[in-house]
Amino acid sequence: MAKIIMYPGEARKETMNWKDAQGQHITVVKRNILVLGSGGREHALAWKLAQSEGAHVFIAPGNAGTAQVGVNVDIKPSDFEAVKDFCLKQEINLVVVGPEQPLVDGIVDFFKSDAELKAVKIIGPDKRGAQLEGSKAFAKDFMEKYGIPTAKCFKVTKDNLGEGCKFLESVKAPYVLKADGLAAGKGVLILNDLQEAKDELGKMLDGKFGAASTTVVIEEFLKGIEVSVFVLTDGEHYVLLPEAKDYKRIGDGDQGLNTGGMGAVSPVPFCTPEFLNRIEERIVKPTLKGLKVEGIDYKGFIFLGLMNDGGNPYVIEYNVRMGDPETEAVMTRIEGDFADLLMACADGRLNEVHYAKSDKTAVTVMMVSGGYPEAYKKGMIMSGLDSLKEVVAFHAGTAFDAEKNVVTSGGRVIAVTAHGDSIEEARGIAYREVEKIHFEGVNYRHDIGLDLMKMQ
Ligand code: AMP
Ligand code: GLY
Repeated sequence: MAKIIMYPGEARKETMNWKDAQGQHITVVKRNILVLGSGGREHALAWKLAQSEGAHVFIAPGNAGTAQVGVNVDIKPSDFEAVKDFCLKQEINLVVVGPEQPLVDGIVDFFKSDAELKAVKIIGPDKRGAQLEGSKAFAKDFMEKYGIPTAKCFKVTKDNLGEGCKFLESVKAPYVLKADGLAAGKGVLILNDLQEAKDELGKMLDGKFGAASTTVVIEEFLKGIEVSVFVLTDGEHYVLLPEAKDYKRIGDGDQGLNTGGMGAVSPVPFCTPEFLNRIEERIVKPTLKGLKVEGIDYKGFIFLGLMNDGGNPYVIEYNVRMGDPETEAVMTRIEGDFADLLMACADGRLNEVHYAKSDKTAVTVMMVSGGYPEAYKKGMIMSGLDSLKEVVAFHAGTAFDAEKNVVTSGGRVIAVTAHGDSIEEARGIAYREVEKIHFEGVNYRHDIGLDLMKMQ
């Protein structure tokens, strides 16, 4: 294996010749990579990318965990000009956009239209492509047009509220109401009572989620079990990354409030080759074809939030980024050089790279602050992180205090991922190590993967 050496200022030359100790010529690929974001997903992306040949990873703004695998840069992903300055100064080759907001706000369009940024590759869709996540109404129209299985729906604004109420009367409970735009993951209401659904519809149109709910999508409720499937596409070719199951509720047994995600398991036992084949034929291929017909040049991740209803997949939602905490499980199962894969994606050469996934099962347990997803305290000193064995601890909401202690800085704090030959084995390792991590108010679910163990 070639030793990797970085020559500051030369990173733009993606390959360089170098002699090893025996005088043999070796080509070393050098890549400066910038990951935008600050959560567990970005730590997992940066962790994986840092293992690539010649990779030098920067994370903006990052957290206490990303600082272990790269260099944190104090730049907000929403400040496109600052991101540009950094890319030019640091001779960044590849930008990986973690969260959806910069994509919906047009960071890819900004890069593509700037002559100085021409040489910088960026992973993510442009503003139009990002509408798959940025507007539920756009996503539903798209699915209808390209025959992609999804729940029946009706789009409501203040102008057709009466028809919206009639649609609610025509479907069975529970009633699903979705704010059209981005609402920090909170824009979906699922209600059992018809009158309550009508009242909430009115409140949403009156600005319950600000401009995001000027339009509301009412959906038929889908039955079944959810799974997150991740596609990486260069617009022409695609690979299916490992799928995962997310655990959204705060409490064991799926009780209590919805959260950003309390754990993940990958692979998912019910994602058999036959089911995955249906997903490719009925959802992935028509989606990519639709994007092409619409003239949307999509180079990036498509996260399919799916419902498995008796072996038939339905799209609950599209996201234009990786999932969190799914990424903290998924990245540990991707084999090979991830930077190679993303570079090939940006160049439209995904068909040329070898991609493989590990047979191991990954179980991720998310440790959260007491009170989350409601009000919680920050700044709690964390201990036990140095004593972990056989797991990777991805930081989701951590920071350094003035004394350089690692402290909590978010609701979701740290995601502990273990591998095993079965869910049972990986769960055993993950929970053994979780118990070593302490901070005031710590909370986590105890049942991650239990439901799937029965299916394995
Ligand atoms: P979202 O914020 O779009 O991720 O939606 C939140 C959650 O609501 C999803 O993960 C599903 O559990 C649930 N959900 C959304 N739409 C439907 C639907 N049509 N039928 C059943 N559950 C749904
Ligand atoms: N885990 C769900 C999401 O990232 O939206």
